[in-house]
Amino acid sequence: MTSTISINDKQRLQLTPLEMPNRLLLGPGPSNAHPDVLQAMNRPPVGHLDPTFLKLMDEIQSLLRYVWQTENSMTIAVSGTGTAAMEATIANSVEPGDVVLVGVSGYFGNRLVDMAGRYGAEVRTITKPWGQVFSLEELQIALETHRPAILALVHAETSTGARQPLEGVGELCREFDCLLLVDTVTSLGGVPIFLDAWGVDLAYSCSQKGLGCPPGASPFTMSARAMEKLQQCQCKVANWYLDMTLLGKYWGQERVYHHTAPINLYYALREALRLVAEEGLANCWQRHQKNVEYLWEGLEDLGLKLHVEREFRLPTLTTVCIPEGVDGKAVARQLLNDYNIEIGGGLGELAGKVWRVGLMGFNSRKESVDPLLGALRQVLPN
Ligand SMILES: Cc1ncc(COP(=O)(O)O)c(C=O)c1O
Repeated sequence: MTSTISINDKQRLQLTPLEMPNRLLLGPGPSNAHPDVLQAMNRPPVGHLDPTFLKLMDEIQSLLRYVWQTENSMTIAVSGTGTAAMEATIANSVEPGDVVLVGVSGYFGNRLVDMAGRYGAEVRTITKPWGQVFSLEELQIALETHRPAILALVHAETSTGARQPLEGVGELCREFDCLLLVDTVTSLGGVPIFLDAWGVDLAYSCSQKGLGCPPGASPFTMSARAMEKLQQCQCKVANWYLDMTLLGKYWGQERVYHHTAPINLYYALREALRLVAEEGLANCWQRHQKNVEYLWEGLEDLGLKLHVEREFRLPTLTTVCIPEGVDGKAVARQLLNDYNIEIGGGLGELAGKVWRVGLMGFNSRKESVDPLLGALRQVLPN
């Protein structure tokens, strides 16, 4: 049998073995994976029901509970990026007609609005200028006004670099009998999180930021309260792939096939989580804080201003105001082309106004900050 579709000569690709540049990834993510994580990814694949793989899944669950500081039994890694885990929280908690209140102060709050609407929620929003956060009083008033079934907040808004404080929010949600859903994509591993102490019912994250792993296996967790709502729901979860009533049978005792797990990505995630445990979670948070303060100092020495008030700045993602008269895109391009360093531009309302600099996971170290500051010193006009 011969193939009928060929690559014609004009279009023929230069199919040499793959080579990719070794960039220093200091944008909003992905960040560079730890070398041990990349090594772990190269281990030979086993089957998704192999006893050694099932043991690894158990380890991932225990380690995720540790990094999130939760005892939720339904804590797993979703196959897919952070958006898949985000959708998993919505798909497993929103019933058509539920009022879902979303705090929007950046791009990812808006994504939650869009997603919840697609699952039939009656979405209400409260808003803040991009870069600011909601106070407990503002959240209380909003809960009184809207009486939602779910309050959704973004802990670390990657589009703005702001950290939404969550202390006391879970208690408020219990008072108003609603679930608390939190995006921890840019906080897990790099910013202190205490899911159980804060009363968070649903949370999701990603692998490619604070955990220092490639993208594709994304943390998901739900509390007993959220499980109860799911079990009482009359209809099936509208998303088959992300249905926790089915996925729970693969991750739990029954070990029923659901889909083929991305085996090698789970190796990577397990190794990334092990490295956090080896360092110690509190040490890992402290390292992120120490290195970002070193970055802030260096940026301010260069005369640059930071977008977010210090108290609410994320240790993982810094938004830097682009000075008047400087072409932000050209600077980012030059950093990439001449220095092999990636930084991000602004999103949405902050497009063209800020650069976004990530120091996450393995990249949160002085050895990442120094080359960036050195390059900026050369590239920025004096
Ligand atoms: C706060 C936040 N939520 C959700 C996502 C979506 O994650 P992913 O791009 O891994 O799908 C991102 C991605 O950067 C994010 O920063």
